[in-house]
Amino acid sequence: MKIGILTSGGDCPGLNAVIRGVVLKGTTTYDMEFVGIRDGWRGVVDADFFPLTRHEVKGLSKVGGTILGTSRTNPYEGPRGGAENISKTLYGHRIDGIIAIGGEGTLAAANRLANDGLNVLGVPKTIDNDLRATDYSFGFDTAVNIATDAMDRLRTTGDSHQRCMVAEVMGRHVGWIALHAGMAAGAHAICIPEVPMSIDDICDLVSRAHDRGRAPLVVVSEGFTLTGMSEAYSDKGLDAFNRPRLGGIGDVLAPEIERITGIETRATVLGHIQRGGSPSGFDRVLATRLGLHAADAIVDGDWGKMVALRGIDIVRVPFAEALGELNTVPRYRYDEAAALFG
Ligand code: F6P
Repeated sequence: MKIGILTSGGDCPGLNAVIRGVVLKGTTTYDMEFVGIRDGWRGVVDADFFPLTRHEVKGLSKVGGTILGTSRTNPYEGPRGGAENISKTLYGHRIDGIIAIGGEGTLAAANRLANDGLNVLGVPKTIDNDLRATDYSFGFDTAVNIATDAMDRLRTTGDSHQRCMVAEVMGRHVGWIALHAGMAAGAHAICIPEVPMSIDDICDLVSRAHDRGRAPLVVVSEGFTLTGMSEAYSDKGLDAFNRPRLGGIGDVLAPEIERITGIETRATVLGHIQRGGSPSGFDRVLATRLGLHAADAIVDGDWGKMVALRGIDIVRVPFAEALGELNTVPRYRYDEAAALFG
């Protein structure tokens, strides 16, 4: 059996560990053959394949990024896209099925191709941890560790200057990274998309920490919107040259906190640092296990599903379970963290 593997969407620490897990199990236990597909679905429609053997995956579990490359190409777009064309391309290269490693968009495309009769198996990935079908996704733990380390560092410089430090972390739609890193680093305020907060709520937490002699530490998800922001902060949409402002929500919050509380405040946007570099031990193990189980699922002919973590087990779930509603932070998880704000 010959299987193509692709990584699609934003990259994420642990992608290479999945690839290694699939190839090692597939070649040693099942005598499968693999091809790497370059740059996600782009490589499928362009037939951009290369042989993937044990040799190519040697030592990969600790390597960040993806050796396959990635893109946000939609396989249904373009003259060579669509299920029928892709089916012909795969048949021409004697490829029996595809393992697609990606987030919501990738899995939605995989689901559609599977419904159109192609052999596709999914492996969920997202540093944001926003997919419902899996308890945790690999990449998340690494991102939390990086954000925690950054906030520990912000705290010592904040302490030295008696400043309020604002850390903006990733999380387009959900606040998992902010919640976990904020708890781990002992933030005095955690601002996430799921929980409405006004600038006064945040300043209150900042002032209380300051009054206790602490240098306030605030963590904010990039997707957080301040209650009342559209009216009160509409002027913040432009920079000094009247161009659309490039900074994120952290850059909006810091000057407002400083203006309202009188406490000198600095913002740091962590950005793609959270997605780069070596995966944590937890993510290496999770990603490798997903890869091993993906090889098993293929041998069983269990196409049209994705492998996922439930408790401590890897299970197979229909694509539909991963799509639609996002895995948001439940209120009780936020309240646990909020009990520590003081
Ligand atoms: O979905 C993962 C993620 O890292 C988000 O947290 C972030 O908003 C987005 O991707 C960034 O995407 P890009 O790398 O395309 O700028």
